[in-house]
Amino acid sequence: MTEKMQIYKCSICGNIVEILHEGAGELVCCGEAMELLKEHNEDIGYEHHIPIVEIRDDKMLVKVGKSEHPSEEKHYIEFIEVHSPDGKYVKRKYLKAGEKPELEMKPKYNEITMRAYCNVHGLWRGHYAER
Ligand SMILES: [Fe+2]
Repeated sequence: MTEKMQIYKCSICGNIVEILHEGAGELVCCGEAMELLKEHNEDIGYEHHIPIVEIRDDKMLVKVGKSEHPSEEKHYIEFIEVHSPDGKYVKRKYLKAGEKPELEMKPKYNEITMRAYCNVHGLWRGHYAER
């Protein structure tokens, strides 16, 4: 059984898909079961992946990592997502190598969940709540 918002990857061809509506079947690509990407929420090692929020004047800046994640051809953040607290809205920004791993938005919500996908280190989750 899949769950809405889960992300699956094919370890053979690299296809990545997201569940928009849950179902009972197994997801298969290239003849093999697709891998459910775990949402990591603890940084391990030197590079930081957990999305964080910085409030700048009237903008909310979602950054990937306390120290900026690399953005090179072989290692970069492919996308950043922001989810509203009720799960109804998702904002996603796709990135290319060389671009800063950041997403800027108006502070519509006082609480958000964020996800970032690194092409080497996988899927990461962060949470922000206004104090
Ligand atoms: Fe990484």
